[in-house]
Amino acid sequence: MAIADGSAPAGSAHAHAAVGVVVVAAGSGTRLGHHEPKAFVSIAGRTMLERSLDAVFALSEPAAVVVVAPASHLDSAERIVLRAAAAARDHVRVVVGGRTRQQSVAAGLEALGDEIDIVLVHDAARALQPVEVFDRVIARVRAEAAVSGAGVVPALPVVDTIARRDAAGRVIEPVDRSDLAAVQTPQGFPLARYRAAIAEATADHSDDANVYSAAGHPVVVVEGDARGFKVTTPWDLRRAEQLLGADRPTLRTGIGIDVHAYDESRPLWLGGLYWPGEPGLAGHSDADAISHAVCDALLSAAGLGDIGSRFGVDDPRFAEARGEVFLRETLALVRDAGFEVVNVSVQLVAKGPRFAPRRSEVEALLSRLLDAPVSVAATTTDGLGFTGRGEGVAAVATALLHS
Ligand code: CTP
Ligand code: MG
Repeated sequence: MAIADGSAPAGSAHAHAAVGVVVVAAGSGTRLGHHEPKAFVSIAGRTMLERSLDAVFALSEPAAVVVVAPASHLDSAERIVLRAAAAARDHVRVVVGGRTRQQSVAAGLEALGDEIDIVLVHDAARALQPVEVFDRVIARVRAEAAVSGAGVVPALPVVDTIARRDAAGRVIEPVDRSDLAAVQTPQGFPLARYRAAIAEATADHSDDANVYSAAGHPVVVVEGDARGFKVTTPWDLRRAEQLLGADRPTLRTGIGIDVHAYDESRPLWLGGLYWPGEPGLAGHSDADAISHAVCDALLSAAGLGDIGSRFGVDDPRFAEARGEVFLRETLALVRDAGFEVVNVSVQLVAKGPRFAPRRSEVEALLSRLLDAPVSVAATTTDGLGFTGRGEGVAAVATALLHS
């Protein structure tokens, strides 16, 4: 069926198009393990098929494009193609694939018109292969056409040490990697020769160049691109998303304030520490203003409300709870929400206790509890306000989180 214009058979809309591109997208993606066939799985919001067509439609010359899809996803492939080709000049068709990749390629070649003289076969699973590689392959196939009729594959040098092993996992021999190339797609061929090669193939090959060279034709290598890796496993999918910047960390700041009045009759707990001989603070829990301000800053950064709504004042678990308990619980909530603490900064506003002698002790304890740097400073207000009059203490905290 003709997709781009709804009526014309392949090629007739662009009788001069010498290049055809077959995008094979009919595999099931067993190793990726999604419900959808692999080409219909999204990388950062767009399917692999769509993304692989981006490069095809950006070619420096018009091409006749054939998408080979699973029978179950013909409609879906047509919708994707219509969207992708809307602004493109290329003629696009969607055909049903076969049981193996080679059968799918054969179906794709079949759908190309006879005016096509160069064909590129590309895996939809190599969704991020840039257009430059396509153009490079076309140029080389064209250059070789009159000379050798060679097939052309993009490839990268092999960087890992490679060894040959047996079925039992024993290493048999090292392999000299300077001889090796990691082969990608799109692979390009003179169409008539590749058609003949695939028609006479006696084995099922997973790679087009293998089919072509099995028929006795030469194959040459051009430079591939690291972005042309094949998305095969869930790890590859994550790598593709990383490359697209889709999992760039989100940074979030938060602020928290806590105020408590002095209560001479209670012990003083501040910054998670006990302060012997100092007047305590009034409050439901241990009234540790520093710890509470930090909790509020963390909760606000994560969008999780505040300490009052998270740890109810009526909850007996927190009746006399130490600041440390709130900090641990808060950190667990923040992590559950997908965040990690970058750092926390607190300022205590109080007439007493004299903070400087124990500042580093407080910082060390809070940093350990939150598994992130916590800095604490203290100031007075020159006798002004409730802190200046010695009625109570205030603590202000900011927190930075990343996702
Ligand atoms: N392919 C195809 N028809 C098949 C098998 C594979 O069109 N019968 C296509 C895939 O859609 C993919 C490319 O060939 O774009 C490379 O194959 P591979 O990465 O092996 O994909 P799958 O076969 O889908 O994955 P798996 O082997 O994990 O099942
Ligand atoms: Mg496969």
